[in-house]
Amino acid sequence: MGKYFVTTPIYYVNDKPHLGHAYTTLCADVLARWHRQNGDEVFFLTGTDEHGAKVEESAAKAGLKPLEFATQNAARFKQAWSSLDIAYDYFIRTSDSKHEQVVQELLQRIYDRGYIYQAEYQGLYCVGCEKFLQADDLVNGKCPFHPNTEPVQQKEINYFFKLSAFVDDNKLLKALEDGQYNIVPEARKNEVIGKIKKGLQDVSISRAGVSWGVPVPWDNSQTIYVWVDALINYYSATVFTEQGKGFWPANLHLMAKDILWFHAVIWPALLMAAGLPLPQVVAAHGFFTIDGQKMSKSLGNVIDPNDLVKEFGTEATRYLIMAELPFVSDGDISLNRLRQRYQSDLANGLGNTLSRVTNMIEKFGQGNFVSGEGISAYTRDTAAGIEGALLNYHFDNALWLIFRIISLIDEEVDKTKPWQMSKEGKTDQIKPLLNKWGTMLLDVSLYLKSFMPETAKKIEKILRDDKIVKAEPLFPRLDNK
Ligand code: MSP
Repeated sequence: MGKYFVTTPIYYVNDKPHLGHAYTTLCADVLARWHRQNGDEVFFLTGTDEHGAKVEESAAKAGLKPLEFATQNAARFKQAWSSLDIAYDYFIRTSDSKHEQVVQELLQRIYDRGYIYQAEYQGLYCVGCEKFLQADDLVNGKCPFHPNTEPVQQKEINYFFKLSAFVDDNKLLKALEDGQYNIVPEARKNEVIGKIKKGLQDVSISRAGVSWGVPVPWDNSQTIYVWVDALINYYSATVFTEQGKGFWPANLHLMAKDILWFHAVIWPALLMAAGLPLPQVVAAHGFFTIDGQKMSKSLGNVIDPNDLVKEFGTEATRYLIMAELPFVSDGDISLNRLRQRYQSDLANGLGNTLSRVTNMIEKFGQGNFVSGEGISAYTRDTAAGIEGALLNYHFDNALWLIFRIISLIDEEVDKTKPWQMSKEGKTDQIKPLLNKWGTMLLDVSLYLKSFMPETAKKIEKILRDDKIVKAEPLFPRLDNK
């Protein structure tokens, strides 16, 4: 038993929730549920990133004040998470004045400790990323993540954070070596280390021309750079919210590789400068394409999680996203493959196996498997495998292991043919088999709890009933829907 604090990125409030956001948020939800199930005290934080030039521009286009615009759009994220049954403990919005206060306090502390100075900055700025681009970031003169947006030349007096101070004396690398924090997966950690070793420039942490932001506490003519404001959400939520108090440092910051640099380098350096402990793990998953193409508004191929929920239902959508996408490498998703997987794994696999086994229990009589609690000996090896997979963020492998149990049951049913045994009058030999399969399905329900909480409950209820009868299909076939 312990404390577990897991975060997702706070998503830009001008965007609509899509499959990429949904994947990261589901990873966090599965881990949060798993830790709760294991008795840990959990704080699961998500939210929206609401300040900065990009949000200001989008609000103006929509004819709204930035805060009104942000409030409208933050609601879309909350709605999407509720339709996916995401059980976060707190939804933070950076426009919350209580967050803003912590941001100012923390920045003031870093300033007082001598890590912030004023200087002129000139460089290419990507509004899409809300960051200055370095020469080696550019691909054909454009930001690799926003090839349709022209980076703009900006020159202004800003406040700078002495990031270089954490490289010159190897503080960051030492912190990684000492295990003060860690970056996963390994390949991305090595990329980050390589980049740190090349040397780092100080970073501008304030803006003169952006009014939609948190004022620099000692100079109200500037606002705090939106990324600094945003990163501090992880800490501020442990200061000003009831649910999060006392949870700093985070056990896990989850995100995709696009924003690993901010979390693996800038954020730890800011924390060190403020004299605060570092997050335990910064974990970045890959980027996902749709049918092999970049997900983009202009291509019109953005997958809205709400559409998946409409087609497959909440529980199946959770399963499909987590089973289909890898964490470590980049991934691709296609609606066709999701449909096939729904049929094979859920309608035919889990749902049908449960109906088959309960049907036989109804016909041939029930054993005493319902009395057992916890994981049975039949699947104990799998428990270790699943735990290992989850500890390494291999959510797809964990699900594969769970669904392997279902195929094993199916194979054994086909092989032993209980209905034939019944015809031959060997009813006594059927019962132990039914007990075993029922027990294994109860194990499946325990393992599935963090991935498909409602399905797990349903299976348990069906199998723990005093009078077990053939289960209705848990996942209707798509053509019958
Ligand atoms: N607001 C910043 C984060 C600040 S955190 C202190 C931001 N927001 S974002 O809306 O752009 O979200 C980026 C994150 O969304 C990624 O890191 C990832 O979690 C998720 N994804 C968005 N598109 C994605 C894909 N195409 N593929 C995988 N994940 C993606 O950056």
